[in-house]
Amino acid sequence: MMVRADHLMRPTIVVLCSGQGTNLQAILRAIQTKRLRARVACVISDRADAYALARARQAKVPAHHIDPARFPDRASYERALIALCEQETVRLVCLAGFMRVLSPVFVTHFRNRILNIHPALLPAFPGAHAVRDALRWGVKVTGVTVHFVDEHVDHGPIVLQEAVPIRPGETESQLLTRIHQREHRLYPEAIRWVLAGHTKIVGRSVKKVS
Ligand code: GAR
Repeated sequence: MMVRADHLMRPTIVVLCSGQGTNLQAILRAIQTKRLRARVACVISDRADAYALARARQAKVPAHHIDPARFPDRASYERALIALCEQETVRLVCLAGFMRVLSPVFVTHFRNRILNIHPALLPAFPGAHAVRDALRWGVKVTGVTVHFVDEHVDHGPIVLQEAVPIRPGETESQLLTRIHQREHRLYPEAIRWVLAGHTKIVGRSVKKVS
């Protein structure tokens, strides 16, 4: 009984995904191993074939596919997402490879309560192909960014960043693998900081408070 009560008292997050869901898996694992005190209320995907949905079901987390094609416009789609997220009291919405741009409808509703992970050192290489773009540009160092989401793409205040030096001759898939490893550690850590109230947004800056 006590275990169940503790489970329900943990801060609740919702994870939005479009693809493989390896970051979702890292979040679930951090919760399972008690590195992150949280509860994933549900996982939502805009794609029926997102493997993230299977990972969620395997972990006994409610998994929903909400198809944007069923809605007349982006605002009504996002209102459906909000309704689903708000079935419980949600502390944080975590985008983990959710490849849709969120409009002010969603961002305003969850102001300063949406996190995103991006596979580059923002503001460098925003967008959907950050790893490829960094390699093509010839940079020597790229990395990972966790940031709050605002109305612009890959743009909001930065919570944590880590650099990943690019090795000579490294292929896109090799670099992607190393970036993923870094993401899987950094994202749960950033979520833990935010849920614990260790962050305060001041303008573009995220200050650490204890
Ligand atoms: C991650 O590398 C994440 O940083 C990236 O999508 C991947 C999702 O992988 N997000 C973006 O590029 C956002 N602009 P996953 O589904 O295995 O977690």
